[in-house]
Amino acid sequence: MDYYKIKGGKKLRGEIKISGAKNAALPIIVASLLADGETVLKNVPDLMDIRTIIRVIEYLGAETEFDRENHILKIKVSKIKNGEMPYELVKTMRASVYVMGPLLARLGEADVSLPGGCAIGERPVDIHLAGFEAMGVRIELEHGNIKARAKKLAPANFTMRQISVGATANLMMASVLTSGKTVLENCALEPDIVDLGLFLKKMGANISGLGTERITIEGVKKLTPVTYTIMPDRIEAGTFLLAGAITKGDVTLTDCVPEHIQSLTDLLKESGYNIETGKNTVRITPGKNQKGFMIKTLPYPGFPTDLQAPVMSLASILPGISVIIETIFENRYTHVGELRRLGSDISIEGNVAIVKGGKKLMSAPIMMSDLRAGASLVIAALAAKGTTEIRRIYHSDRGYEKLTEKLSALGADIKRVKGGTF
Ligand code: UD1
Repeated sequence: MDYYKIKGGKKLRGEIKISGAKNAALPIIVASLLADGETVLKNVPDLMDIRTIIRVIEYLGAETEFDRENHILKIKVSKIKNGEMPYELVKTMRASVYVMGPLLARLGEADVSLPGGCAIGERPVDIHLAGFEAMGVRIELEHGNIKARAKKLAPANFTMRQISVGATANLMMASVLTSGKTVLENCALEPDIVDLGLFLKKMGANISGLGTERITIEGVKKLTPVTYTIMPDRIEAGTFLLAGAITKGDVTLTDCVPEHIQSLTDLLKESGYNIETGKNTVRITPGKNQKGFMIKTLPYPGFPTDLQAPVMSLASILPGISVIIETIFENRYTHVGELRRLGSDISIEGNVAIVKGGKKLMSAPIMMSDLRAGASLVIAALAAKGTTEIRRIYHSDRGYEKLTEKLSALGADIKRVKGGTF
């Protein structure tokens, strides 16, 4: 297994182009199953999760061609089939549950394994299933598999018991071809959902209320394949800003949407960094009076849970105390033990992390436990004295494109080393 060797202490400097958003691309790739013909997706990031979802839709009958260099994915759909997907395909990625929406819409049946994904707590899919049931789908759970059947999908008024990005996406995809008016309440406002909605609209879907808590879908008979460009990845953008912040560097993100990461840039400004935003750019430089912060993860436009681990690395070195409260996932502090090995002073009480900052981090062998925990370790290692070896980097391969190349281009001393013992 490959590992990273990072020699910390280099100030990052320069411009970095942000890739397409993983969490928008995943449902959009799956949603292409809703129309026969050829869909062309641009700005698709070349990531492990993307390769996995491509295999998933191929398994369901789509033909694909991924030009990784140019980030263009062509998806040809003529006949799709339902079928229990091999467990190895779904076990690594929770987003595989997204196939339920399109399969139910087109075939009235879907069989999937209960999904895996990051090891961050329970992550059930009960809201997805309750929504499908409201649309007249019969759900059975057998041997770790979900079996969903409907003679005909019915439009529904459905209120999600809690905001769920995945359930909002899945129910939108299920209802676009269902004749009648479906009203989804307590929807996720995440830009990824808006991007999916814009893609579906371009295909001919009749959707209103995107980016609000109530999304209304009037079913149409047929969707037409289109060419669509995936929006930029706000979590990758946030991760690079934090890498710039922790090294006290001068980093400019290009090809990003500044508004999507405003909760982070607000926090960075309060913590003593200068932030300059352009139309599609954000620049960070160190300012005066750096200090700790208090933050709570929340659904968009609140602070994203996917940046909770990365921001904790920054808290470790900022003077003063930072308080971080995780409200979205119940087991999302697996990076804490590893950050402590680098010298962070973090205590955890339930879902509250208290970080005593101002620490000088020092290298140590550490390992990633999930995708965003992995990002936090890379960020911390960039600031740590000495050479840090990070194992299990397959986690960050799921969601960060060309991480080594991008960080090296900013002046980081990072190498991906082949082989390793665990
Ligand atoms: C998506 C993102 C993930 C991000 C998360 C929250 C993708 C592929 N992944 O994950 O990166 O961290 O949004 O912004 O887009 N829940 C239930 N029942 C359900 C569904 C969700 O209890 O049926 C709970 C979850 O356990 C979690 C919370 O709701 O505590 C939010 O989950 P959700 O928004 O669904 O996250 P994902 O779509 O899995």
